[in-house]
Amino acid sequence: MLIKKPADLRYSEITPKALYLNRRNFLAGVPAAFLGARELMSPSARALAGTKFPNVQKSKYTVGDEKINSYQEVTTYNNFYEFGTDKSQPAETAKNFKTSPWSVSVEGACAKPRKFTMDEILALAPLEERIYRHRCVEAWSIVVPWVGYSLSVLLNQVQPTSKANYVAFETYYDVKQMPLGPRGGLPFPYVEGLRMDEAMHPLALLSVGMFGESLPPQDGAPVRMVLPWKYGFKSIKSLVKIKLVSSMPTATWNAANPSEYGFYSNVNPKVDHPRWSQSSERRLGEFRKRPTLMFNGYGDQVASLYNGMDLKKNY
Ligand code: MTE
Repeated sequence: MLIKKPADLRYSEITPKALYLNRRNFLAGVPAAFLGARELMSPSARALAGTKFPNVQKSKYTVGDEKINSYQEVTTYNNFYEFGTDKSQPAETAKNFKTSPWSVSVEGACAKPRKFTMDEILALAPLEERIYRHRCVEAWSIVVPWVGYSLSVLLNQVQPTSKANYVAFETYYDVKQMPLGPRGGLPFPYVEGLRMDEAMHPLALLSVGMFGESLPPQDGAPVRMVLPWKYGFKSIKSLVKIKLVSSMPTATWNAANPSEYGFYSNVNPKVDHPRWSQSSERRLGEFRKRPTLMFNGYGDQVASLYNGMDLKKNY
């Protein structure tokens, strides 16, 4: 990545700046006063506005006594290259990102391809809170209470066929709304991919929110993936297309630099990044590094997906 080596990171850069943070400002530039009462009540308006979801269920997905990072930390230290390459930039430059109306096309090798509006996505399954560890390839990590449900719920809607071996994901891209995109050094739209069995794994989360509220733009509003056993760049943001395909799809970082970023990108402390160690990580808000766990601590749930694979070759 076009990033500093962890050794070059100063603690002052990791500790988020005391930025403004008025959550109610995530109205895609539309002051709340101009939204009608009915619009404010509708699910799509909730997705737009960073408003509390009324019925988020607790789930079995937690991280024991590990501390959840603060909303401030999680929303001011981001990777979202379409909105700039500095961690603090997306919180500012994505502020007016228009996330409504929004739809996600689910297509390809399936019997019932179709577009889902955000209202439909929000209504497909009960929203759960899932507290996941999220580990960036740059050796920092966070713990976030995401809101969403398993991606398999959405994929099952379109009835994948036997030709669906992989899932290809695509982020929205509009240079007018993302004027820093061309300076990101990556080809956009940002794309990612999973093998079908990974995509259908219950841990693979289709996320619409965090901290009980809809996602703020810098964290991938209105809908993104979260794959807690993989390096963070697999967790693609602001999804507009999901395509079921027969062969391994392109993934942005893997295509940009295949010797540094593998297609699988499972968190693996034994396989160093060519430019730095992956054996430990710095949790945002902490000073001392902690050891990185195999599959980011989710091995009991996902290791069987990779039985028989050489995880040094398939990094
Ligand atoms: N998705 C898009 N569309 N563009 C990006 O630049 N960055 C990835 C991933 N998803 C990225 C993206 C990387 S490198 C990481 S570590 C995570 O988003 C960061 O997610 P967060 O900002 O919510 O912590």
